[in-house]
Amino acid sequence: MRVLLLGSGGREHAISWKIAQSSMLEELFIAPGNAGTRQHGKNVPIQPTDFKSIREFVLSNAIDMVVVGPEEPLVKGIHDFFLADDQLKSVPVIGPQQHAAQLEGSKDFAKQFMQRHNIPTAKYATFTKDNLNQGFTFLEGMKPPYVLKADGLAAGKGVVILNDLNEAKKELSSMLADAKFGEASSRVVIEQFLSGIELSVFVITDGDSYKLLPEAKDYKRIGEGDTGLNTGGMGAVSPVPFADPAFMDKVQNQVIIPTIKGLKHDGIPYKGFVFFGLINVKGEPYVIEYNCRMGDPETEVVMPRLRSDLLDLFEGVATNTLSERDMQFVDKCAATVMMVSGGYPESYTKGKQIYGLNTVTESIVFHAGTESDGPTVRSAGGRVLAVTSYGKNLEAALTRSYSAIESIEFEGAYYRKDIGFDVV
Ligand code: AMP
Ligand code: GLY
Repeated sequence: MRVLLLGSGGREHAISWKIAQSSMLEELFIAPGNAGTRQHGKNVPIQPTDFKSIREFVLSNAIDMVVVGPEEPLVKGIHDFFLADDQLKSVPVIGPQQHAAQLEGSKDFAKQFMQRHNIPTAKYATFTKDNLNQGFTFLEGMKPPYVLKADGLAAGKGVVILNDLNEAKKELSSMLADAKFGEASSRVVIEQFLSGIELSVFVITDGDSYKLLPEAKDYKRIGEGDTGLNTGGMGAVSPVPFADPAFMDKVQNQVIIPTIKGLKHDGIPYKGFVFFGLINVKGEPYVIEYNCRMGDPETEVVMPRLRSDLLDLFEGVATNTLSERDMQFVDKCAATVMMVSGGYPESYTKGKQIYGLNTVTESIVFHAGTESDGPTVRSAGGRVLAVTSYGKNLEAALTRSYSAIESIEFEGAYYRKDIGFDVV
């Protein structure tokens, strides 16, 4: 198979690493990729939302399958773009069409979907600038903390949680009336605060059947002990100890199955990954969010724990034969620790040369934000490297990653020293 993978982060490096192990692969291209993905395929300088250039590339390189890493091209309709084009429609796209991608692209759409299908989630109401005053009244009737969510994609910044009622009102007004997050906050979902421990659950589906992938837990805050600003993710572990068979049964019966059936019932086709952002409230799973793609940095622990051939699974998705495919896991734990640029998630400097990458032998270094000129690798983003290790337990995996990090260096590098602190 000739495969084009879209994206340039740690998630895409981990997916390219896994695809490269497939016996079904003829050639892999990554658009645009990073200094890590070039170890597994050929990087091509095309942005994932540049549909016109993707079209030309797919046709001139006889691509058999397109795998979409990030949400933006999905929410912008890349899958629909392929289906609407006579020359492209026979090329399968792994990733849902625009309608289903709204599960991530619109919080209000996701909440309505969950309500319609009885999927456990926080109680909510949605407001626009035309009913701002009703929004204030709604807040007055709630208990703190107040959870406000911009409806649309806001680069991971659209959720604001506040303890003070007046601040919450001010925030609501700045989102709706002052368009704080632009078009993304033209609608705002206000919801009940749920208290519990979060985890990420993933399935792959062809729209009829699904297969469960290993679950993971990510660490979103910049500071140790889960403090400070939110980031794209500072590390992850898999498996998640509290996701025992009893809890995962509830997740399948109350969340996953109703979601897959609900999509089918509503006539919404879905081919690709579904990411369930869950919270465990006293042993009961609730959906915090859906994403229409894999998580990052979760993918950097999920892919290493997948034994089966990823392209075989993708082919099952493309041909509606996923139920006949084999899904097996590696019987080891995995942990990843993210090395980020100093200053991230606020302002930081890129272009720092990275030393020591070749000295790591006991871990897999997935590149998140890197670029290369010749053999030199430099930082090119806030999140720079995800250092993943296996272990017989999470402690052993984490110890390995921390030991590998000792031998990697770039100016200003920062990482959390407590990944997994709450579960090991
Ligand atoms: P989201 O983008 O919807 O995943 O929200 C970002 C983060 O905000 C989540 O990972 C949670 O930590 C937190 N969060 C979102 N919704 C709630 C809620 N209803 N109750 C408590 N925390 C929440
Ligand atoms: N790690 C959370 C996400 O990918 O959205």
